[in-house]
Amino acid sequence: MQTKPRHIAIIMDGNGRWAKTRGKKRVQGHKEGMERAREMVQTCGALGIEALTLFAFSSENWNRPQDEVGFLMNLFVTGLTKESKSLHKNNVQLRVIGDVSRFDKKLQKAIFEAEKLTSSNDGIVLQIAANYGGQWDILQAASKAANESFQNGNGMVELTSSDIEAKLTGADIPHPDLLIRTGGEQRISNFLLWQCAYSELYFSPLLWPDFDSEALKEAVSEFGQRQRRFGKTGEQVEADISAINNN
Ligand code: IPE
Ligand code: IPE
Ligand code: MG
Repeated sequence: MQTKPRHIAIIMDGNGRWAKTRGKKRVQGHKEGMERAREMVQTCGALGIEALTLFAFSSENWNRPQDEVGFLMNLFVTGLTKESKSLHKNNVQLRVIGDVSRFDKKLQKAIFEAEKLTSSNDGIVLQIAANYGGQWDILQAASKAANESFQNGNGMVELTSSDIEAKLTGADIPHPDLLIRTGGEQRISNFLLWQCAYSELYFSPLLWPDFDSEALKEAVSEFGQRQRRFGKTGEQVEADISAINNN
């Protein structure tokens, strides 16, 4: 039985409601949420998790009021600039996944620089999903795979799932074993649609700013209790495990 997830993905939801229940502005919730994101990186690093993907801004979040979008963009720029040195010191490899071309030049530059600074680190891989959509990811992967084949003179092609896999964001890291969503909602909201095909789902009623290291450890511990079958029967999975143990 796999007891520890190699890759955890989190839909960090509930910042606005957290602020509202405290009579604060929604943006205060985002500020507090940023603190939890920082905490999660440390906790996952300490737990020996190989990759952490945090959903920070979806392709649909542009539909929010302009001032909230603006605040979030500033938070990313200051966050990236401020945090990149300590991420680097902690051997974290930072990547931003999503269509960054829609961000303003200042943010694109901050992303580029933070990624460059941390690119040779071999500790935990931290993926920040920003202007990310699972459908966008599959589309960009399919377009790249088709274009490549076309340029190689192969003309019309039948793409295989490995062709798409190779071009998806995070192609070099394992798919998320555990997908956590906070905030009580039970939906995927266009997150890693392809990559989460077989992830274990964990929904927490806690609002994201209340989701601390203990809550994460609880989710990881529940993951350890689950039997992942990947289409097989429970008996087959048990037989596979005892075969491994007897070797
Ligand atoms: C998640 O919290 C953060 C982002 C989507 C940027 P929300 O802002 O969605 O918080 P709720 O769901 O309104 O409480
Ligand atoms: C999902 O949260 C996106 C992020 C956490 C960044 P939302 O709050 O935007 O999701 P929906 O729209 O309620 O499904
Ligand atoms: Mg929300």
